Amino acid sequence: MMHEHILQSTEATLDYGRALAGAVRQGDIIALSGNLAAGKTTLTRGLLHGLGLPEGCDVPSPSYTLMQYYEAPPLRLAVWHIDLYRLSNEADILGLGLDDIYDESVSVIEWPERMGFLLPKGAFEFSLDIISDDRRLLRYPDAFHALITDKVAR
Ligand SMILES: Nc1ncnc2c1ncn2[C@@H]1O[C@H](COP(=O)(O)OP(=O)(O)O)[C@@H](O)[C@H]1O
Ligand SMILES: [Mg+2]
Repeated sequence: MMHEHILQSTEATLDYGRALAGAVRQGDIIALSGNLAAGKTTLTRGLLHGLGLPEGCDVPSPSYTLMQYYEAPPLRLAVWHIDLYRLSNEADILGLGLDDIYDESVSVIEWPERMGFLLPKGAFEFSLDIISDDRRLLRYPDAFHALITDKVAR
């Protein structure tokens, strides 16, 4: 089941990412859908800081590098931040060798729809939609509902 939540500002999305850091586990795959400027990289930035990336450290969009690795330590868990926007065919996706990196890290994948059936079945699907300049509609899976309700740990 999917849930919805409105993120009122860039800061709210960063905060959600930081909260998400408390719920992710090694091997988790976060498939993050949404249009350009929906806030996918912003949410990932919050997640990375929540996992212990020092505040001054930049989190560039991986739209050109395609994949960016963040080591543990200093992070609590290693993260692969992946952006598939520029890839269009199966051979390009296969060439990234993603199957070999999932287990050793938390993988955050922007533009996961580019993968089609290559997206692992166990991936957690999140999406962001632009409502207005400052507001975004977040959809997230049941397993992460505790982040919002603050009642039950995953
Ligand atoms: N509620 C919000 N959540 C996330 N970003 C927002 C929000 N409101 C405005 N923005 C702005 O939208 C842009 C989102 O950029 P980015 O995170 O790089 O998007 P994407 O990775 O989805 O292309 C940033 O300039 C950010 O400040
Ligand atoms: Mg991005």
